[in-house]
Amino acid sequence: MISVIILGAGNVATHLFNAFEKAEQVEVKQWYNRSIKSIQSYKNKVAITDNLSELVDADVYIIAVSDDAIANFSTQLSFENKLVVHTSGSVNVHDLDKKNRRGVFYPLQTFSKAATLDFATVPICLEVLDKADLKTLKSLAKAIGCNAHKVNTQQRKALHLAAVYVNNFTNQLYRVAHEITESKGVEFDILKPLILETAKKVQDMSPYMAQTGPAKRNDKKTIKKHLKLLENEQHKAIYELMTASIQKTHGRKKL
Ligand SMILES: NC(=O)c1ccc[n+]([C@@H]2O[C@H](COP(=O)([O-])OP(=O)(O)OC[C@H]3O[C@@H](n4cnc5c(N)ncnc54)[C@H](OP(=O)(O)O)[C@@H]3O)[C@@H](O)[C@H]2O)c1
Repeated sequence: MISVIILGAGNVATHLFNAFEKAEQVEVKQWYNRSIKSIQSYKNKVAITDNLSELVDADVYIIAVSDDAIANFSTQLSFENKLVVHTSGSVNVHDLDKKNRRGVFYPLQTFSKAATLDFATVPICLEVLDKADLKTLKSLAKAIGCNAHKVNTQQRKALHLAAVYVNNFTNQLYRVAHEITESKGVEFDILKPLILETAKKVQDMSPYMAQTGPAKRNDKKTIKKHLKLLENEQHKAIYELMTASIQKTHGRKKL
């Protein structure tokens, strides 16, 4: 049995609590948040607190607060030599206060409180400063059905950066596409099977091999027609930049 204390009550903390609660090998001893309001509804399931001095003993303390608050928050913990991890893809493990044993438990997924998610599909990227702590974090990931990956700081930061491309930027491109379809009164929903197939394809082949379209084929007339159709200057700039990137990757000459 691994005992944990969750610190923070945002998107990640809430999904972690739900996953830990279902796991037989994990006991959530306490759940802390600076504003008790967000965790009040869980008080019959777990001991809740908004007072850091009330924190009890546990195997792992998980800081799931905003990136910018992690370092300062870790200095407010009153205990020493315990395993304290954060859940961020970008914050340095050394930013945690060195009075405790430090690590990272970074779930590589997009979490929103309102969106349900099968936690067992989430890869957990682990980093530790004390090798002995790796076993505990691996067991914790395994207990909630997740694959754990030991990464170093540079690799975790690269994954976080790559995640911005595959998630945030891709989602913003959906938004641009939505604006384009909306402007002509055609349903965005018609594009949904294409969205799913695009994501499905890279499960079995490389993004390089999966690419299709006018930029890859170097269909210059089609590219020119698209650029003429675009009324929004920012959408046009994105189209030109992405087209140039695809042409470079696939050895095509620019327009
Ligand atoms: N969301 C994701 O998709 C995702 C994915 C992987 C990793 N992460 C990482 O997980 C961590 C939490 O992200 P999140 O999306 O769950 O954040 P979030 O939903 O915005 O929640 C932030 C939490 O941090 C607390 N907080 C903010 N500033 C604080 C401070 N100065 N002192 C104490 N508590 C403070 C908030 O408390 P209040 O409720 O009182 O405001 C809240 O509980 C971040 O490091 C993030 O990089 C997020």
